Amino acid sequence: MYRYLRNVIFKLDPEVDHHIVEFCLKHFAPLPLVNDFLANQFCYFDECLSQEVLGMRFYNPVGLAAGFDKNATMIEGLALMGFGFIEAGSTTLYPQEGNPKPRIFRFVQEESIQNAMGFNNDGAVKIAERVKKIYPFQIPIAINLGKNKTAEDALKNYEENLKVFKDLGDFYVFNVSSPNTPNLRDLQNESFVKELFSMARSHTDKPLFLKVCPDNVIEQTLKVCESAISGGANGIVATNTTMDYSLLRSPKNIGGISGRALRNKSREAFYEISKAFFGKATLVAVGGIFDGEEAYSRIKMGATLVEVYSAMIFEGPSVCKKINKEIANLLRQDGYNHISEAIGVDIR
Ligand SMILES: Cc1cc2nc3c(=O)[nH]c(=O)nc-3n(C[C@H](O)[C@H](O)[C@H](O)COP(=O)(O)O)c2cc1C
Repeated sequence: MYRYLRNVIFKLDPEVDHHIVEFCLKHFAPLPLVNDFLANQFCYFDECLSQEVLGMRFYNPVGLAAGFDKNATMIEGLALMGFGFIEAGSTTLYPQEGNPKPRIFRFVQEESIQNAMGFNNDGAVKIAERVKKIYPFQIPIAINLGKNKTAEDALKNYEENLKVFKDLGDFYVFNVSSPNTPNLRDLQNESFVKELFSMARSHTDKPLFLKVCPDNVIEQTLKVCESAISGGANGIVATNTTMDYSLLRSPKNIGGISGRALRNKSREAFYEISKAFFGKATLVAVGGIFDGEEAYSRIKMGATLVEVYSAMIFEGPSVCKKINKEIANLLRQDGYNHISEAIGVDIR
């Protein structure tokens, strides 16, 4: 059904669609009857998918990637879409408008998205007020932390941002890999990342993650991940969008690419990261995951959790349930009783 609906939805500007979805999830999803309907329709429970990770309980391994709920306005509604966890943000310390529009483009045939949003968000204080109203929540909430475009002292900016969320959120993801804030990706260097996580560790005992891009030379990415872990990070989220515009037939000249076009590049980066850090850090795979088969292959490659964004846009709200069902079937086909038995089997 979503395939038909999508033809209508895709006639509108992506940001207009996003605001419509946000309005519906915010206002209608919490209504009792709607709430029950959505939960029945989209949530999937299977003991074989439920796991405890870093002290948090995930009833399934499929989370919503950062950027969809930048302002934490939809967490309750999104939970009803069946996600095992939600990554809100990226938030920045101060509110900012982001880049001029249009800044998000769909490539329907290639089931890909190119975005140059530039961390448009309401700012940490306002977003934290929203999270406070629902936290602690029924599923883990991650806060993805970004940097203000004009902040000169990046470390301080991240630090103040983190401090606003100190008692909110179950874990934190530091985003130094968005292509849409000038020079942000330059922060993916060993010394900054080490300082970043040492700073973060001095403020919180909660799990900390680094989100990396898929575009750097892999040896450099591995060094940066190593620095993050030695600074106190518990895990790596791989990957953010790519700036490899050769992956689309008619790309725009701005922003980062997500979706099917990103899949192989993201998977390759994830594989290398996992070969180096499986068993030493908790790994979260994101980038071009649209079905249970791809999700399961990343799990076997070492991902404890996976995330989706573009798949929600192209496959619709039932995608999370579909992926979870498929993972559960694939686990059983391979003779496993529980997801933990499959994590990392391909690289062990
Ligand atoms: C419109 C849009 C906005 C995004 N904003 C953020 C963001 O604010 N922070 C972040 O870490 N990643 C952001 N991302 C990247 C996603 O979290 C994810 O890493 C990427 O889209 C790859 O996953 P996918 O192929 O499943 O979409 C954004 C992606 C899109 C499409």
